[in-house]
Amino acid sequence: MSGKPDAKQMSKVRIGIVGTGYIGNVHGRIHSRDERAEIAALYDIIPERAERTAKTIGGKVCSSREELMENCDAVLICSPNKTHKEVALHAIAEGKHVFCEKPFSIGIDDANELRDAANAGSGVFQVGHNRRYAPVYATLKELLKEDQPHSAHIKMNRGELKNPVWTGDVNVTGGFLYETTIHLFDMLRFQFGEIEELVAYGSQHEYPELDEFSIIFRFKNGFHCTFASSSDASWHFPFERIEVFCHHRTIMTEEMERLFDSRGMDANFETRSFHMVEKEERWGYVQEDAAFIDSIQKGTQPPVTADDGFRSVELVESVYTAIRSGQRIRF
Ligand SMILES: NC(=O)c1ccc[n+]([C@@H]2O[C@H](COP(=O)([O-])OP(=O)(O)OC[C@H]3O[C@@H](n4cnc5c(N)ncnc54)[C@H](O)[C@@H]3O)[C@@H](O)[C@H]2O)c1
Repeated sequence: MSGKPDAKQMSKVRIGIVGTGYIGNVHGRIHSRDERAEIAALYDIIPERAERTAKTIGGKVCSSREELMENCDAVLICSPNKTHKEVALHAIAEGKHVFCEKPFSIGIDDANELRDAANAGSGVFQVGHNRRYAPVYATLKELLKEDQPHSAHIKMNRGELKNPVWTGDVNVTGGFLYETTIHLFDMLRFQFGEIEELVAYGSQHEYPELDEFSIIFRFKNGFHCTFASSSDASWHFPFERIEVFCHHRTIMTEEMERLFDSRGMDANFETRSFHMVEKEERWGYVQEDAAFIDSIQKGTQPPVTADDGFRSVELVESVYTAIRSGQRIRF
């Protein structure tokens, strides 16, 4: 998107939320504090949930998605994964700005269709890869500008697929990689560049789907990394970690909480702690919601585009294909 904002764009952005569960309320609370936005419309297939949300942040409780579209300028898609494509296509067809939670969609065909529609649409389309804005990962990116990273060891685990209940239903999530691991698949591209090749192994233990993964990625710039992801590894801290190895330097993150930077030949390291940052900011939600309103009002491209969302889906599908076929995947 480009061009000067017109008067209409500079008026308050009327937000409509589809899906007022956990993350719908997180985004709703944040936008309700932004003077450039107002919570205008809420829709959930369980109306009591939308009514409960309306009591805390306001907004008209709508009895259909059509009614929601009539009452907003921008739609936040916060319903479960399998609904994303249909809701997004509806919002784009109505000329709305769209914030779509991860995953962008499920399956390469749907991702292709949605990417084409989003790129042809008249509004902003942003994907909810919040970790990009988290201070720990923004700091990692800054530090990596000083050095050439050589390799990394990465993990993205989860304690269970029971909460919310649909997270264990592959027909809703598209698979564990879509629900959880995709966060750090997006992070791979954000921190290290484009991927050239991958090999992957997977197995099934706790749930009726592949739930344990070991992957090796090689990037176009020569960087390479190992990546482990388990759906039932307990919530042992840190369930999410990146260790990056550079020339006489290791930088390590622990979830959104801490970053360690050890450089030189001597045993020393610097710690940066983010635990005092309020959670909605520490996890990047405040920054991504502000970026969405910025893009709408300034007419600029959002930081995480439909193309980025598509590339994450492509990575997920490639890992599943690599495991099922036993073949390495080249991009
Ligand atoms: N970026 C993040 O950190 C993050 C965190 C949590 C969830 N998410 C994503 O956000 C989405 C929602 O997750 P959640 O944890 O909030 O789930 P949730 O179960 O707490 O909330 C989902 C809500 O959507 C409603 N819903 C279901 N189908 C609907 C439909 N067709 N139309 C309207 N409403 C519908 C449900 O009734 C529920 O209230 C998922 O795609 C998930 O992957 C992202």
